[in-house]
Amino acid sequence: MDIQITRNPNPATPPKSNFGFGQTFTPHMFVMDYVDGAWKDPRIVPYGPFSIDPAAKVLHYGQEIFEGMKAYKKAEDGSVHMFRPDKNIRRFNISCDRMRMPRVDADLFLEALEKLIATDRDWVPESPNALYIRPTMISTQPTLGVKASTTYTFFVIIGPVGSYFAGGINPLKLRVEEKYVRSAPGGTGYAKTGGNYAAALLPIDLAQEAGYDNIVWLDARTMKYVEEMGAMNIMFVYEDKIITAPAGDTILDGVTRDSVGQLLKDMDLNWVEEHPSIAEIIEDAHSGKLKEVFACGTAAVVTPVGIMHYQGHDHQIADGGEGPLTLKLRELLCAIHAGESGLHPEWIHVVPEA
Ligand SMILES: Cc1ncc(COP(=O)(O)O)c(C=O)c1O
Repeated sequence: MDIQITRNPNPATPPKSNFGFGQTFTPHMFVMDYVDGAWKDPRIVPYGPFSIDPAAKVLHYGQEIFEGMKAYKKAEDGSVHMFRPDKNIRRFNISCDRMRMPRVDADLFLEALEKLIATDRDWVPESPNALYIRPTMISTQPTLGVKASTTYTFFVIIGPVGSYFAGGINPLKLRVEEKYVRSAPGGTGYAKTGGNYAAALLPIDLAQEAGYDNIVWLDARTMKYVEEMGAMNIMFVYEDKIITAPAGDTILDGVTRDSVGQLLKDMDLNWVEEHPSIAEIIEDAHSGKLKEVFACGTAAVVTPVGIMHYQGHDHQIADGGEGPLTLKLRELLCAIHAGESGLHPEWIHVVPEA
C-alpha cells in the first residue's frame, strides 16, 4: 500500500530547547483506517484534531492501545535512527490480540514510522534529547454495546522530548503499593492499553501527595512479589545476580528491560527473571546484601532507586545514591541511543532520507 503524503501548508518551526515530555508535536501525523475487514488509506497528513462520534466504542469501553518509542540524531553525521522499533511493533500487535483489535502489518508499520519521521526530520533534536513516537489505535464504531468494534483508526504522532536527566540524576523515592493492584493473572497487564494507566492514576497521585516519585506494584494474587512500576520495569542488584520479575501476563515486557538484560549477559553477569520477594528485598536492603535497585524504561532509560517505602517505613537502598552498575548500564544505553557505541548495531534502525 502506498502512503500518500499531504504536506502541512503552515508548518510550525521546531523549538530549540525546553521540550519537556509530550507537550509539542510535529506538523504531520500518520493515519490509517480499518474498514470492511482491512486497513485502508495509509496517509501522512497535517497534525490536527480528529472528529469522533460520541458513540465511538473507544469512548465507552476503552478499546485502545498505544506504544512509546524514540528516535535519535547521531551528532557525527546528522543521521536519524530509531531504537529497536521491531520490538515495539511486535508488542503493539501483541496488545492488538489481547484487546481484540486488528493487527498492523509490521512492514507497513515500520514504513509509516520511517516516512513520518523523514517528513518531520528537522524536528529530531540533538541527543540526549530525542523524538518521541506514539503509535496508537482506537476503536471507532459508533454503536453502544460491549463488543469489539468493526472499525478502527491507527495513528502515529511524534514530538521532541527532553532528556530525563536534564536536571541531573535524582535517585527515585518509591512507595510500594499495598492496597491497589495494576494487573492480575489473565488480565491485560502485558498489553499497552489505556485502561491499565487510568487505573494507576489514583494510587500514583496518592503516593505523590505523600512525597514519593512513583509506585512499585506487587502481584495481585499474594501481594508478596514485586512486579514493576507505573511506567518502568525494576531490577534488583545483588553480589551474584540481578533479578527482575519474569515477563508473564502481568507486566509490560519493556524494550529497555530486554536491552538491559542483554547488556548484563554481555558482561557475563547473572541476569535472572524470577519473582522478587518484597519481604526479602527490604531485609536485604537493611543487611546490605542488596547493592542497587534501578528502574528502566524508554522515558528514564536506567534510573537509580534510593528509597523504597513499605509497611509504614522508608527503606534506603545502599547509600541512597546511584550504584556503579546502574551508572554503567545508563552510560552504555545512552551511548547506544546516541549512535555513539559499537555495541549492538542491530538495535539501531536508520531512518532513510525522504
Ligand atoms: C507499565 C510499563 N512498564 C514498563 C515500561 C517500560 O517499557 P519500555 O522499556 O518498552 O519503555 C513502560 C513503558 O512503556 C510501562 O508503561
